[in-house]
Amino acid sequence: MEKLAIKLLCSIFLISLLLHTLPARSQEVDDEREFDYDKNSEKGPARWGEIHPEWGNCSKGSMQSPIDLLNERVEVVSHLGRLNRSYKPSNGTLKNRGHDMMLEWESGAGTLEINGTEYVLKQCHWHSPSEHTISGRKFALELHMVHESQDGKVAVVGIMYIIGRPDSFLSSITDHLRMEAGNGETETVVGVVNPKDIKIGSRKYYRYMGSLTTPPCTENVLWTIVRKVRTVTKEQVRLLRVAVHDDSDTNARPTQPTNGRPVQLYRPDENKDD
Ligand SMILES: *[C@@H]1O[C@H](CO)[C@@H](O)[C@H](O)[C@H]1NC(C)=O
Ligand SMILES: *[C@@H]1O[C@H](CO)[C@@H](O)[C@H](O)[C@H]1NC(C)=O
Ligand SMILES: *[C@@H]1O[C@H](CO)[C@@H](O)[C@H](O)[C@H]1NC(C)=O
Ligand SMILES: *[C@@H]1O[C@H](CO)[C@@H](O)[C@H](O)[C@H]1NC(C)=O
Repeated sequence: MEKLAIKLLCSIFLISLLLHTLPARSQEVDDEREFDYDKNSEKGPARWGEIHPEWGNCSKGSMQSPIDLLNERVEVVSHLGRLNRSYKPSNGTLKNRGHDMMLEWESGAGTLEINGTEYVLKQCHWHSPSEHTISGRKFALELHMVHESQDGKVAVVGIMYIIGRPDSFLSSITDHLRMEAGNGETETVVGVVNPKDIKIGSRKYYRYMGSLTTPPCTENVLWTIVRKVRTVTKEQVRLLRVAVHDDSDTNARPTQPTNGRPVQLYRPDENKDD
């Protein structure tokens, strides 16, 4: 009898979990001029939620991104498994969205599988300085690889960089970035870009549930932040900013309250082959 009750309770719990895990359908805004990153501006991060009713979660949401990945708060786990990425070379276009540069693979560039769900890689874009912080520390640059499942769920992989040696992926698209910087066009066709050239260099990553970091700040975004901080040159960070042609030097949303959200750090089990 007791066993049955426990089973029943478990089922109810699972069902309510499923019902609450609604997909994060809304896309990021493609024309970003309606908001900015100046904290004193009427269109600044603290006001994003008031600009459009659909952007309400930017101020009222309870699971917003970015957050600080405080070392003492993360739970180290080994069950999440290595990132299962099956990316493929695909035609890409570089787009200036007004506050950032986005490299878009219109027909997708392969998949990332997390816990049985397949997410297609749609685009990547850069924020400088970094949006996420690790125990309060900000980095020079953060790359976001945005993936979407067939039913509209969003998973983002974030990679952070400090100033140092050049990042080879950015080096490979330097000419196209220069073109954007020079002619002020909004789009440049790049040709075939292989997402595998975006180096991760570590199996460890943070995992938590958050949101898009730009309006509409849609929630239920599954975040993966690569643990290893990589390097990029000052010139590469500068070029990304110049190509955007806005007056700002930065495009990083301030960190948001965690509201007790769990953050996990995946570390492979030494004895196992994962
Ligand atoms: C805010 O996010 C929740 C899910 O976390 C969603 O149900 C709601 O519709 C969102 N509100 C707005 C204004 O987008
Ligand atoms: C990229 O686009 C070109 C021109 O449209 C096409 O010939 C080529 O097959 C495409 N390559 C891939 C990998 O999609
Ligand atoms: C990796 O993802 C593919 C689909 O994208 C799936 O077929 C495969 O089983 C996954 N492998 C693991 C180890 O999860
Ligand atoms: C993975 O999916 C299973 C079933 O779909 C679910 O019960 C479990 O909570 C999920 N795990 C994580 C870490 O999201």
